[in-house]
Amino acid sequence: MITVTNLTKSFGPHTIWSDMTATFEPGLLHAITGPSGSGKTTLLNCIGLLEKPTSGTISLDGKPLTGIRQGECQRYRRTRLGYLFQNYALVENATVTFNLRIALGPGRLGKQRKETVANALNTVGLSGYENRPIYQLSGGEQQRVALARLIVKQADVILADEPTGALDDVNSAMVIDTLKTMAAGGATILIATHDHSVIDACDTHLDVTRPS
Ligand SMILES: Nc1ncnc2c1ncn2[C@@H]1O[C@H](COP(=O)(O)OP(=O)(O)OP(=O)(O)O)[C@@H](O)[C@H]1O
Ligand SMILES: [Mg+2]
Repeated sequence: MITVTNLTKSFGPHTIWSDMTATFEPGLLHAITGPSGSGKTTLLNCIGLLEKPTSGTISLDGKPLTGIRQGECQRYRRTRLGYLFQNYALVENATVTFNLRIALGPGRLGKQRKETVANALNTVGLSGYENRPIYQLSGGEQQRVALARLIVKQADVILADEPTGALDDVNSAMVIDTLKTMAAGGATILIATHDHSVIDACDTHLDVTRPS
């Protein structure tokens, strides 16, 4: 469970949001909304420890994430955190397998790892895509590879920044269905979005312009 308490973020004199308090439970999809520039990405980046809040605390399973040492921060990012972006953030010239291996960490691609990759691809409906280069895939297929990467990593804190922004309705529904399956497996999932069908599919809704 992720808890943010009295969180405030300012860039210089400009306060993006203040005194935000919210709880994000595992097993659910949490929508983060607000107009462009209201600080949705900034909130995800604070929880992903890419940005520091100006004041307030963020905790994971009751332990503070704000103010932790660099080693712990790296461990959290390596072992638990998964990002899903609007532009997929894949290595375009490399194969599907190469992109998934990054999430597995260093080591040989033995039988077991090949099986892990194949199972994740099967879950997102891309069986047999192992050796396809990313640039040959459609947007929806690329987003599915990005989802498979989170499955391979076994991320249980998933920060999705407009993950359906570049997709049609069918592919958007597929992304949401896959995120729901990951939530059912115990992941905590935050989705910054403008998409009403995504907001409707989520279990909770936080408007960053009206925190608490
Ligand atoms: N590193 C930074 N330095 C200064 N200002 C920043 C920085 N990062 C973000 N901002 C500002 O903070 C505000 C919130 O930005 P953010 O990207 O979080 O908004 P958003 O809600 O995700 O918008 P969008 O819907 O367009 O993605 C914006 O005004 C932005 O210019
Ligand atoms: Mg944004």
